[in-house]
Amino acid sequence: MNYFENKNILLIICGGISAYKSLEIIRLLRKSGSHVKTILTKSAKEFVTPLSVSSLSQEKVYDDIFSVENEAEMDHISLSRWADAILVAPITANTISKVASGSAEDLASTVLLASNKQIFLAPAMNVRMWEHPSTKENILKLKNFGYKFIGPEIGDMACGEYGEGKMTEPNEIKNTLKNYFSNIKKNKKFKALVTAGPTNEYIDPVRFITNKSSGKQGYEIAKCLRDNGFDTTLISGTPNIKTLDGVNLVSVETAEEMFKETLNNLPADVAIFSAAVSDFKVKNYNDTKIKKSEKLNLELEKNIDILNHISNHNSLRPKITIGFAAETNDIKKNARTKLNEKNCDWIVANDISDQTIGFGSDLNKISIFYKDKPEENFHKMKKSLVAEEIVKRVIQQIN
Ligand code: CTP
Repeated sequence: MNYFENKNILLIICGGISAYKSLEIIRLLRKSGSHVKTILTKSAKEFVTPLSVSSLSQEKVYDDIFSVENEAEMDHISLSRWADAILVAPITANTISKVASGSAEDLASTVLLASNKQIFLAPAMNVRMWEHPSTKENILKLKNFGYKFIGPEIGDMACGEYGEGKMTEPNEIKNTLKNYFSNIKKNKKFKALVTAGPTNEYIDPVRFITNKSSGKQGYEIAKCLRDNGFDTTLISGTPNIKTLDGVNLVSVETAEEMFKETLNNLPADVAIFSAAVSDFKVKNYNDTKIKKSEKLNLELEKNIDILNHISNHNSLRPKITIGFAAETNDIKKNARTKLNEKNCDWIVANDISDQTIGFGSDLNKISIFYKDKPEENFHKMKKSLVAEEIVKRVIQQIN
């Protein structure tokens, strides 16, 4: 199967000695059946000529954000829309720094800032530049934004030094893109469902009981599933998330609505229950606003456990059913109990005793508990990276 057939790849070439290898990347990608458009930065033109690039790509070369002719076509937007993936090879320390800070001073950085496509970066620089704390910090930032790094490799450099900083070979870069496209193609046939966020349990028309969940982790998981080709539905109790490009987003408020919409969106091949569903609802909902002069005694009753219901249901249960466990203590014991009682394939446990992670934060620290093997413990990291770790394992298991 040729995963490159008719794929549009936007290649950005920055200034560096390894820019000459970008010509080979264009040749390989074209030979595999993809269309390649190219942006050259100002300094890239010191290393490769627009003529050699356009001869190989058989396309116009883009370089100037302020060109009268091109701006009529809104290049920075149209190029990003056109691309199925964007590759920056080589990317220099300077461009890494520009992209990490959100700069939009030339066509290359503007396209990267304006794009919602998957972006691959193949760095090439002197080993000391690569190891500089400022480059390291920028790289971490870009990884958290969802950029994927290819290399660099360890080896002899053009500057005469030896170390990490060599651009990955064109063939290897092509293989990374191939894996990306093949993943998307293979996963397209799989349906994924994610629950996220808190639920609101109404006391009267204006008051409800809720919890601190922001829904960020589930949102990141849905995004990551989408980026890997899954047909994704996100059932979200988070009020400020109303749309998510390429995801079927269903907004709900109460646990009952979340349950109903979950049923409506099954069957699925994989379901990830990250929502912080309220365990209780108000027994006697008041359909008019309760006045403070009234006496208020709240009587609560149990909500349905959505995960438990579905995972223990023979015909509803998705092939891969994953639960979450938000715990302040006895994480291992509680997670293992939930894994068994809720009949999950895995439980993703997160420690919510530390205020800097979990609820509301951009960071999370998780452990994944499996039925048939020992748990995996992860460091504290961005929720987007947690999502990648989870989805990577889902892809391994589903295939
Ligand atoms: N869950 C659910 N429906 C509920 C309660 C929980 O689907 N009514 C799911 C959550 O989405 C999560 C898992 O069950 O995947 C565990 O949720 P958690 O709140 O950690 O545990 P509970 O089962 O509510 O137990 P406890 O609050 O006693 O820890």
